[in-house]
Amino acid sequence: MSRVYVFHEYGGPETEALIERPVPEPGPGDLLVEVRAAGVNPVDWKIREGRLGRHNEPPVPMGREVAGVVTALGTGVEDHEVGDEVLGMVAPGQGGFADHTLLRAADAVAKPEEISFAMAATIPVSGTTAYDLTHAIELEAGQAMLVLGAGGGVGHLVAEIGRVHQFTVIGIASQDKRELVESTGATFVAAGDGAAAAVRELAPDGVDLIVDIVGGQALRDVAPLATSPDRIVSAADGATAIELGGSGRTNDPESMEKITGVIGYQVITPRITGEFPLDRAREALALVEEGHAAGKTVIVP
Ligand SMILES: NC(=O)c1ccc[n+]([C@@H]2O[C@H](COP(=O)([O-])OP(=O)(O)OC[C@H]3O[C@@H](n4cnc5c(N)ncnc54)[C@H](OP(=O)(O)O)[C@@H]3O)[C@@H](O)[C@H]2O)c1
Repeated sequence: MSRVYVFHEYGGPETEALIERPVPEPGPGDLLVEVRAAGVNPVDWKIREGRLGRHNEPPVPMGREVAGVVTALGTGVEDHEVGDEVLGMVAPGQGGFADHTLLRAADAVAKPEEISFAMAATIPVSGTTAYDLTHAIELEAGQAMLVLGAGGGVGHLVAEIGRVHQFTVIGIASQDKRELVESTGATFVAAGDGAAAAVRELAPDGVDLIVDIVGGQALRDVAPLATSPDRIVSAADGATAIELGGSGRTNDPESMEKITGVIGYQVITPRITGEFPLDRAREALALVEEGHAAGKTVIVP
């Protein structure tokens, strides 16, 4: 048997539970993976609330991104072997907060030896999102990038990528995330009413890219700082970004390979701020659902 964290009804967290089930059987093209770490993301509770549709019959397994060790192969898998260390998005209908899960072999990437399973588990969702956002509009070294939500799971990686590209990075986050934001090399600006004016002082001619991971009014407040409205890109609130003249995230299918390589070279470091065992998955999810997470929270079965 194998444990998996599920929800029994679309809605609030009350029906989340850790249950036992047989170890999943890999179908054609699948990898069976012993999970070593799984990243927790806002999308986990958004799925549970039904905000992305009600596609699966409960109990619905939770958790989208994992890193682990391959323990069995489905038919037709040629590029992976039992014992490989991999990372990836879990296969449709599967959950990552589990002892075992299935990945589509075609979507799984080798875990770099140099990084931990916990770090690797932050790549499939947060890492790829940060990569896509920072490459939506190509900036040159020295140009200014504003990160709205720079202290969160995606935001701190956006700031790190900006540093590697030698952009001038300004990160807006709440006061308690100052140290984390500054550790990425970004200039910290406190979130709130004075944020836009503070950024204007730092970048009087405006910023060449706004990467938004918050949305709503906070995005509207800083939008006029962009040198041009099409230099706004948002993962959190594509609708508002488009209304303002910008865009939502565009998924590049090669992002996972690319950001895995960069993190493998250890020029970018995912900050793991909370590690929870599987039997405390509820706490890990609640922490992220509160919306004030710093860096990444992972579940380590
Ligand atoms: N489209 C996609 O493919 C995609 C992929 C990944 C994530 N997302 C979305 O992007 C959003 C963020 O994801 P995440 O994983 O980074 O979440 P997270 O780890 O929970 O981080 C969110 C961060 O936003 C900060 N924040 C909230 N209000 C703020 C404000 N007014 N100014 C500055 N910072 C503020 C929070 O901290 P404080 O409140 O303490 O400041 C927190 O650090 C979510 O809505 C998620 O669903 C979308």
